[in-house]
Amino acid sequence: MKTMLTRLAERRAEAEAGGGARRVAAQHAKGKLTARERIELLLDEGSFEEFDMFVEHRAVDFGMETQKIPGDGVVTGWGTITGRAVFVFAKDFTVFGGSLSEAHAQKIMKIQDMALRNRAPIIGLFDAGGARIQEGVAALGGYGEVFQRNVLASGVIPQISLIMGPCAGGDVYSPAMTDFIFMVKDTSYMFVTGPDVVKTVTNETVTAEELGGASIHAVRSSVADNAYENDVEALLQTRRLIDFLPASNVAPMPDWPAEPVGFQDKDLSLDTLVPDNPNKPYDIKELILKTVDDGDFFEIQAAHAKNIVVGFGRVEGRTVGLVANQPIVLAGVLDSDASRKAARFVRFCDCFNIPIVTFVDVPGFLPGTAQEYGGLIKHGAKLLYAYAEATVPKITIITRKAFGGAYDVMASKHLRGDLNFAWPTAQIAVMGAKGAVEIIFRSDVGDAEKIAAKTKDYEDRFLSPFVAAERGYIDEVIMPHATRRRVALGLAMLRGKVLENPWKKHGNIPL
Ligand code: HXC
Repeated sequence: MKTMLTRLAERRAEAEAGGGARRVAAQHAKGKLTARERIELLLDEGSFEEFDMFVEHRAVDFGMETQKIPGDGVVTGWGTITGRAVFVFAKDFTVFGGSLSEAHAQKIMKIQDMALRNRAPIIGLFDAGGARIQEGVAALGGYGEVFQRNVLASGVIPQISLIMGPCAGGDVYSPAMTDFIFMVKDTSYMFVTGPDVVKTVTNETVTAEELGGASIHAVRSSVADNAYENDVEALLQTRRLIDFLPASNVAPMPDWPAEPVGFQDKDLSLDTLVPDNPNKPYDIKELILKTVDDGDFFEIQAAHAKNIVVGFGRVEGRTVGLVANQPIVLAGVLDSDASRKAARFVRFCDCFNIPIVTFVDVPGFLPGTAQEYGGLIKHGAKLLYAYAEATVPKITIITRKAFGGAYDVMASKHLRGDLNFAWPTAQIAVMGAKGAVEIIFRSDVGDAEKIAAKTKDYEDRFLSPFVAAERGYIDEVIMPHATRRRVALGLAMLRGKVLENPWKKHGNIPL
């Protein structure tokens, strides 16, 4: 018996050694942790239950039959984050560069199946060179199976990908189908084909960072949802995100202990947040932080399309999704990037029954050839579609401008907004007063005095919340300082909301 126990301990130690001390040292020298170190930080202490640590590849070409490492380049299992179950797989770059063989794929598929069957989130830690080149089509088949499972799980359980090393080929396409991608700055890259192939095909010379570093994907391409300084920060932020999310599309919302909003002091500073000059910007994040519990806001895509802010917070301990135009960036205008960013976020919230709180201060859609040629119509329509399709509780607060089509798009009453509030500073109109008057009274444009008087008339009549409130498009004009309380009351009232869209196989969102 003793020898059997010793043998098990030895085999475990062998698997835990991964690609060996030299490769582990190289991993550390690059500022990266190993797969097991990452899992340890991600999960509650001692909660990791590993599967398949003795799995080996079955390849025989290119001398592979003599190179076998137990575990085959991926560590899989489950554990808990703040006591709630999550499934995890972590690519081990020290074993064949974390590349995916047929056996390696089967380990991931097993975890994907278990996560889906047990309705718990799945987190993939990527640090890998794509398909195992020595296995050819068997590896491609493996990726196909992983992709298929990504798609079936989409909208059922949260799927999160952390990019923690150079990732190519299949190791970028699987993350691309998950809900959130986080990258680590300076050590992680994502590209379909690497710099060498790019040079051969297009004759462009680019570094890995220029082609697919966090500075590209978290800022420009929006492939990544956030970028963090190092492995530790990325893992701890993922824990924080999981705490906001329900385990599945049928699981209850996490409900953390919180003081009821009614017992808290009023914060009157919001009453002066909007400047007297309507063209002066202010930071919408101040309103977000004063609406959510303890100012705890998990921003998504913080570095991309900053003219719109999206992320998670809690109100009275329960998760809400927040979407807000940001007046300090491009006056909060909606452009293609902002529309796509917000649309995807709204759809995530709707998939997982997370109520959406929208703060509106938007001068309209961004005019110009660059936007029109880039498909602004389709991208703007994505956000319109997402809000219109969403059946979760929707609370909208217009703080200042809600002009033109952007008024309709931003969770208006007409898109089944449940509670539509406006601050007294709101201006709900087809466009700004000057532009409106210059169109209606085109023949008077040379007469500055006349135009000024008519502009004043237009402002008095239309640039207020009351025309919309008179029609019931705004349910109530509220004091800015009452925002958090009104949102909390609204969310409590809407907890039993029942709303279903007509049956369909699926809609046809303008992609
Ligand atoms: C087998 C691989 C491998 C791979 C790396 N290794 N990638 N082994 N298959 N795909 C091995 C190396 O041989 C090496 O082994 C170890 O991993 C570390 O690799 P290095 O090249 O030394 O590391 P580094 O310089 O950091 O470069 C990492 C890398 C590079 C950028 C990922 O290795 C690379 O470009 N790999 C190939 C990427 C690729 O083209 N993959 C196929 C994509 S196609 P030793 O023994 O020396 O430690 C694909 C198909 C699916 O994925 C597509 C679906 C849509």
